[in-house]
Amino acid sequence: MLERGTRLLLTLARQARKAGSKNLTLEVRVSNRGAQSMYQSFGFGPVGMRSRYYEGVEDAIVMWANDIDTPDYADRLDAIEVALPGRTTWDGLA
Ligand SMILES: CC(C)(COP(=O)(O)OP(=O)(O)OC[C@H]1O[C@@H](n2cnc3c(N)ncnc32)[C@H](O)[C@@H]1OP(=O)(O)O)[C@@H](O)C(=O)NCCC(=O)NCCS
Repeated sequence: MLERGTRLLLTLARQARKAGSKNLTLEVRVSNRGAQSMYQSFGFGPVGMRSRYYEGVEDAIVMWANDIDTPDYADRLDAIEVALPGRTTWDGLA
């Protein structure tokens, strides 16, 4: 477990909440099951595909996480952080 991707997304999601965002979206390679799994843990679900998005060859799955401005979503982020070793700091972003 490297958890750097988790920590990065945790920081981004918290910063997005702070900025007043309500939803997050991203694209991920169809073949990248590991990343999809991590995104699901952050509440992202698949909503569509971008055909041949990567190098004109591989499709992208479009994923969204909705209602990130809710207390429930803050709880989800806190639970993800609790499961990580050490601390996730975001000095300079606060
Ligand atoms: C996908 C990636 C971002 C995960 O980052 P990470 O936080 O460092 O990885 P972790 O080992 O802490 O795993 C976090 C979660 O990702 C998922 N995951 C990671 N690797 C996985 C794999 N090989 N298979 C399935 N799920 C996987 C799991 O849900 C995991 O949670 P769990 O440990 O509770 O099961 C990392 O593998 C990575 O950096 N990949 C290369 C770059 C990349 O794919 N970026 C995303 C582009 S869209």
